[in-house]
Amino acid sequence: MSDPAQNEPPEAAQATPTQATPGQAAPAPADATPLLEARGVTRSYGNVAALAGVDLQVRPGEVVGLVGDNGAGKSTLLKILCGAVQPSAGQLLVNGEPVTFRSPKDSRERGIEVVYQDLALATELSVAENIFLGRERRRPGPFRLLDRPRMAKEAEAALESLAIEIHSVRARCGLLSGGQRQAVAVARAVLWGSNVLLLDEPTAALAVMESEKIGQLVAEVAKRQVGVVLVSHNMPQVHALCDRIVVLLRGRVVADLRRDETDVQDIVMWITGAALSRN
Ligand SMILES: Nc1ncnc2c1ncn2[C@@H]1O[C@H](COP(=O)(O)OP(=O)(O)O)[C@@H](O)[C@H]1O
Ligand SMILES: [Mg+2]
Repeated sequence: MSDPAQNEPPEAAQATPTQATPGQAAPAPADATPLLEARGVTRSYGNVAALAGVDLQVRPGEVVGLVGDNGAGKSTLLKILCGAVQPSAGQLLVNGEPVTFRSPKDSRERGIEVVYQDLALATELSVAENIFLGRERRRPGPFRLLDRPRMAKEAEAALESLAIEIHSVRARCGLLSGGQRQAVAVARAVLWGSNVLLLDEPTAALAVMESEKIGQLVAEVAKRQVGVVLVSHNMPQVHALCDRIVVLLRGRVVADLRRDETDVQDIVMWITGAALSRN
């Protein structure tokens, strides 16, 4: 029996599987209204200006690489974009509308999900339980019992549609590889219809093959017109995957580069600051 009123996820679970190929998403044109935008975002910690007047936009289907040296302000920016940290000054906009996020719950309600390097998955719970955590399917009737078969079926469909290989959605997350866990976290966000995905170094702890797979998953997610902000130190992957690359240096945006007008060496020069004195 279906229960359409209860937390119905969008079409993601039923979507047709497609072959994910990095760099083949079709982002919205540059003049499309950003799904998420930061304007003049500033954040200080004591005397340290972690961010100083940062602008960032992410549009439907766009993968934006956010790069910079350690301490450049990448994580602080992502935390502000998801409401985990509040800016000292500046404005966030969702679909062109000013918003204030007091917590990640507020941003989630606006379709923004964040995935960190060290995962928020509950290792004691199964894949399906993690995917439905906080949004469990229940059977109709007075006891509202958990509908585990339905959750398992929907979790399987979601993973399959994203070409994520996990032998069983009943497997405990603690038994999965790092890459599989990241994939489950991404699948969870996509299943719940988030339209912006923020990824803070999702592949930092992964082996090469797993890192590649997460890259393919990001490309697949972007094809669904989700906007992605990807923080990563893997420059070849950033260049292959991202439509635009935004470079932070000591809390400021020093470059906002289109993939086709830059290369790995150029990006590295911006990160180190060498490009600033190039001209
Ligand atoms: N909670 C905090 N308290 C004090 N300083 C912080 C805090 N979070 C970040 N910072 C400082 O802000 C700067 C930017 O940090 P962060 O955003 O983590 O950079 P990145 O992710 O690019 O390495 C660094 O100088 C860091 O030490
Ligand atoms: Mg960081």
